[in-house]
Amino acid sequence: MKITISVLKADVGSIGGHLKPSQALFEEIKNFVASHGKNKLIDYYISSTGDDVAILCTHTGGVGNREIHQLAWEAFLAGTEVAKKSGLYGAGQDLLKDAFSGNVRGLGPAVAEMEFEERPNEPFIFFAADKTDPGAYNLPFYLAFADPMYCSGLILSPKMSQGFRFRIIDVSYTEKNKIIDLNTPEDLYDLAVLLRDTEKYVIESIYSRSSGAQAVAISTQRLHNIAGKYTGKDDPVAIVRVQGEFPATGEILAPFSIGHYVAGFMRGSHIGPLMPCKLNTTISYFDGPPVVTGAAFSIKEGKLTEPVDVFAHPFWDTVRDEVSRKAMEIRKQGFCGPSMLPFSELEYGGVVEKLNQLEKRFRLVD
Ligand code: F6R
Ligand code: MG
Ligand code: MG
Repeated sequence: MKITISVLKADVGSIGGHLKPSQALFEEIKNFVASHGKNKLIDYYISSTGDDVAILCTHTGGVGNREIHQLAWEAFLAGTEVAKKSGLYGAGQDLLKDAFSGNVRGLGPAVAEMEFEERPNEPFIFFAADKTDPGAYNLPFYLAFADPMYCSGLILSPKMSQGFRFRIIDVSYTEKNKIIDLNTPEDLYDLAVLLRDTEKYVIESIYSRSSGAQAVAISTQRLHNIAGKYTGKDDPVAIVRVQGEFPATGEILAPFSIGHYVAGFMRGSHIGPLMPCKLNTTISYFDGPPVVTGAAFSIKEGKLTEPVDVFAHPFWDTVRDEVSRKAMEIRKQGFCGPSMLPFSELEYGGVVEKLNQLEKRFRLVD
């Protein structure tokens, strides 16, 4: 049976700054999806990560389906109304356009979707990250799908030894979707050349080379490309099918133990370590640290099991301690050097305005 998993995610308001959506907002979105999705969805799961609410749903309508996108858009609008009424911060923040035009891509919400022939048993992980951007997934998914140091299946499983096809998108190019497909293992070094630049080249999807089946879909929207100004970081979501011809769940999770440095953190303008957190985790220190949550599911004919919180295991407590240390370490140097993003990536215009004023005061002397 062909199934589509769609994840649509937006920040439409939160309590106490950019920390967490309110229970009332969350319930409004959930109730909206429950009542309006009745004849459109097979199943759904609503969750929050930091200040974002994600609608994960299963259906048979394929990717980019108008009805599904409209349902999510209207659910986020309903949530925005609750946010406005209760004075939540940043009400409607990610709904950048006034009218729905058939698809939420380009309107603000993040989207990751995948249509596939459901296997007899079909496990997958849904990841959501806050206070960072889609490039945050470059390193963990490179390691999980292309490096036998992290993914033992690449040398142990005949199904995986043919490697994977990575589709990379240049997110700085806004006229059209500018993409390239690279095959591992033979294109490994070329892949590394692109993936090192996390603000420009981003993994959009990954496919098994033995079966051709899609393993990964990542949201690759860049909000400031849509709005032309700061509107918040892009806070990416991802769907990852696991086991069999794909890496095992634990192989996908392993690279997240690094707590690698990503773009985002305070004002979307810094570098901070990505902390793997429990589901529905809020935001705190320096509007961060950047967080990622993971919910693992199995599905049968599109019907979801209950989620397993992949980062709730005690193992991740030690990782979180280490990531906290890394966060405090880089924060010790404040604005200086690599702790803050380059001008092109700053999400607020203040520094650039200041520089323009200061430029006039520079003098040329012998
Ligand atoms: C980052 C983020 C926050 C805000 C910061 C200031 O993605 O959402 O760090 O940038 O709290 O917010 P404003 O400008 O809304 O006062
Ligand atoms: Mg926000
Ligand atoms: Mg957010």
